[in-house]
Amino acid sequence: MDAKSGLVDGPGPTPEPEARVSDLLRDAAARLGKAGTGAPRLDARCLLGHALGRDPASLATRGNDVVARDAVRRFRRLVSRRLAREPVSRIVGAREFWSLTFELGDAVFDPRSDSEALVEAILSTAPDREAPARLLDLGTGSGCLLAALLGELPNATGIGVDVDPAALRVARRNLVRNGLRGRARLVCANWGDAMGGGFDIVVANPPYVAVRDMDGLAPEVVDHDPRRALFGGRDGLDAYREIAPDLCRLVRPTGLVALEIGRGQAGSVAALLRGAGFAAIESRRDLAGVERCLLARQRIPKSQAKKGLGMAFQGR
Ligand SMILES: C[S@@+](CC[C@H](N)C(=O)[O-])C[C@H]1O[C@@H](n2cnc3c(N)ncnc32)[C@H](O)[C@@H]1O
Repeated sequence: MDAKSGLVDGPGPTPEPEARVSDLLRDAAARLGKAGTGAPRLDARCLLGHALGRDPASLATRGNDVVARDAVRRFRRLVSRRLAREPVSRIVGAREFWSLTFELGDAVFDPRSDSEALVEAILSTAPDREAPARLLDLGTGSGCLLAALLGELPNATGIGVDVDPAALRVARRNLVRNGLRGRARLVCANWGDAMGGGFDIVVANPPYVAVRDMDGLAPEVVDHDPRRALFGGRDGLDAYREIAPDLCRLVRPTGLVALEIGRGQAGSVAALLRGAGFAAIESRRDLAGVERCLLARQRIPKSQAKKGLGMAFQGR
């Protein structure tokens, strides 16, 4: 037996209550499927991998292996948590974003793959990724946006701001684990209030769910993401109303503002940006085709004139 992982090299006889990998996965997937949790087979594999301290993908070829009693017990406890609609990412305590790994905790928003559209949009406007740049990430949470951008812009430095000190402790560990701590600073403040100006890029994924939509949220979201990371007031736009008037002060005249938005919010947020002095505003879609972020500048730099950000936003 591999004492560390809890796997007994199979096939061999299976004394109860040990169990084979394939049986555990099949039973757990059936229970999760019946409970309507979404991706039952994938979830079962991730949870068994976690219980065994192994890469879930490696279990694909270990179906006949026998799982030791302790690991079976650990796995069953994890499955019970998933049946109670705790997300797998919270159970295993980590989330992949932009091919980096981020620790999660109760205080931080679970990074969504939709937000990768924001990173992609920002990078698509960068004429030279080697150029030095100053980034500001408002509402940094786990630090995922700041880390993804610093990882792609090797000569950039950045500041992540969050109002929650517990979230900033997690962000700090995430920057360390991804080797980016040396180029990042974290500040506890209300949005940009504590910041001076001169940033080349200001990015924010603020809370944007309308309180009236709360009942439509899955338990994985409403019971586990921090409320202040989710809700943007009655219509979801409160944080944008607060942030927008400060953006001209924070960003250089030719700098870029990139905001994540919720479904159907592009027109309203673009209007707030126009009202705050931004002339060139463009929306970008995520992989599902939903308008997911707005890019805005006060003035288009000459180097960008042909790259598309000069297009006026065609909002409703
Ligand atoms: C939707 S989460 C985004 C987290 C992370 N940037 C991401 O994309 O996964 C919004 C973040 O804004 C933070 N936040 C909420 N109100 C804030 C405020 N007034 N000032 C600064 N940060 C705030 C929350 O604590 C939360 O971390």
